[in-house]
Amino acid sequence: MIDPEEFVEEAVEKLKREIGDRKAIIAVSGGVDSTTAAVLTHRAIGDRLVSVFVDHGFMRKGEPERVVRILRDELGLNLRHVDASDEFLEAIKGVTDPEEKRRIIGEKFIEVFERIAEEEGAEVLVQGTIAPDVIESERGIKSHHNVGGLPEELGLDVVEPLKDLYKDEVREVARYLGLPDEIVERMPFPGPGLAVRVVGEVTPEKLEIVREANAIVEEEVEKAVKEGLMERPWQAFAVLLDCKATGVKGDERDYGWVVAVRIVESIDAMIADVPEVPWEVLKRIQDRITSEVPDVTRVLFDLTPKPPATIEFE
Ligand code: XMP
Repeated sequence: MIDPEEFVEEAVEKLKREIGDRKAIIAVSGGVDSTTAAVLTHRAIGDRLVSVFVDHGFMRKGEPERVVRILRDELGLNLRHVDASDEFLEAIKGVTDPEEKRRIIGEKFIEVFERIAEEEGAEVLVQGTIAPDVIESERGIKSHHNVGGLPEELGLDVVEPLKDLYKDEVREVARYLGLPDEIVERMPFPGPGLAVRVVGEVTPEKLEIVREANAIVEEEVEKAVKEGLMERPWQAFAVLLDCKATGVKGDERDYGWVVAVRIVESIDAMIADVPEVPWEVLKRIQDRITSEVPDVTRVLFDLTPKPPATIEFE
């Protein structure tokens, strides 16, 4: 384990040296990695760091508002909120291949981000890349572990203050820096967001379904943790599968969507296990999803550890 105080002191000094008197830019998502990198850098160079929140429209329920409130109002970052949701949705229209989807979202992200970087006259790009991102990208398991990757294309100098840290260490540093629990304890969320939690083609209708289902999973798990029924898992989320199944609502046959619930334990996301979630909690999740989310007829629980599965479905 690292000593957070020592780490912060050294990282801030290093950032000052690396950035000098130039202007820097960072893409923030409200996740613990990018927020920690932004706060560290803000300590080093103040408002010469512009934090850009590109809202691709694939965020969780209430998330854009929460990100702006915490990063701008509570942490005092120099934040730019860019709503690019229409652009992103249009770009992945009709795309079903997962890697293709990630590639397009990544490219679109760079395009939007590049526009802002130019407008801001930034010369340095700060990234919240952490150790497992580097390792998995090098192994070619999954591309784009950090949306906003491919920094070479931007022609900016890249600075990665967290690249030697694992998630638990980042959380320690984040706590030390005074980041609120909402950010520190936030479950990891993929850069391409809910777009990779809709298996196959993404439509506004499907996004809405997975957004609502996911909010229910997170709320019920959080409630169960507070009630002492289970430990807080590494991740708990909903995925909308690319198939429909027969159901019955009232007296009528219904043909609706299938939602998978994924709850995993992990230390660093390199491997993951599925914990024994109390039946009562799973039942509540199923009950709320099928009654509150229109057009869902079935809820499945994913039992597969990583490996052989990955944590996300795409
Ligand atoms: P997988 O699905 O590869 O996920 O087992 C490992 C961990 O990484 C998260 N993840 C991402 N994080 N950008 C990110 O910043 C991404 O594109 C991305 N894809 C997956 C995933 O949620 C899990 O915690």
